[in-house]
Amino acid sequence: MTQARYSTVAIILHWLIAALLVWVVLLGWEASDLQGSAKVAPLQLHKPLGITILLLTLFRLGWRLTHRPPAISPHLKPWERRLASVAHWGFYVILLALPLTGWAMVSASKLITVFPIDMFGLFNWPALSFLTSLPADQMKATHEALENAHHLMAKLIVYGLVPLHVLGALKHQFIDKDNEMARMIPFLARKDAQ
Ligand code: HEM
Ligand code: HEM
Repeated sequence: MTQARYSTVAIILHWLIAALLVWVVLLGWEASDLQGSAKVAPLQLHKPLGITILLLTLFRLGWRLTHRPPAISPHLKPWERRLASVAHWGFYVILLALPLTGWAMVSASKLITVFPIDMFGLFNWPALSFLTSLPADQMKATHEALENAHHLMAKLIVYGLVPLHVLGALKHQFIDKDNEMARMIPFLARKDAQ
């Protein structure tokens, strides 16, 4: 079966953001295994990469809302469509909420002046001023709440959405053999069309 596929821009953004997500999560985990000043190096890279995901996801959402994706394959069962749709929109929500909570979390800390969000040596991403000016006790409580939300959402995407999405894609490819994956992997589409 020959599959319609997403636009080249949508495909590039899909795989670029997926790769960045893996990198950012590995850096977050590395930092969480370390103590004291050893955390600084992985976190100083984690932060600008997370902000990059935020910017790319905003662009991707804009693209998605202004460019019609390929029509949903007619053979998909209603529950498959619903589940795929929940996973896709869930990804967009969490790919925005995770970097936003990260940004807010580091803004609600005195350490932001020592370790700013350094965008690869080009410029410093600004801190959220309404959080940097909180009184000390409120700042601490806000920081903790945001940190908990950040960790919880990271768990949700890593242990929930990604396995659901990838297992779904593999089920279609290898059990249903409907070549759904060609919608996001052009190389499969070309092979299929021969
Ligand atoms: C999609 C983007 C992001 C993902 C997937 C992500 C994921 C993670 C993960 C998995 C951890 C480790 C959690 C743990 O210890 O269990 C973490 C920690 C952390 N993240 Fe992010 N993050 C993102 C964006 C950001 C951004 C934009 C910032 C700040 C600008 C940030 C700041 C931090 C900090 C400071 C920690 C360490 C918190 C602690 O003390 O445990 N993150 N993040
Ligand atoms: C090996 C890993 C992955 C595979 C094989 C894969 C495959 C696919 C395929 C085939 C589609 C098209 C689904 C359809 O329209 O029927 C898709 C869509 C999507 N994927 Fe992935 N994906 C992977 C990883 C990821 C990751 C890590 C993320 C999150 C960062 C992600 C986010 C999305 C989103 C949001 C869509 C919906 C696009 C839209 O319609 O706007 N994917 N993926």
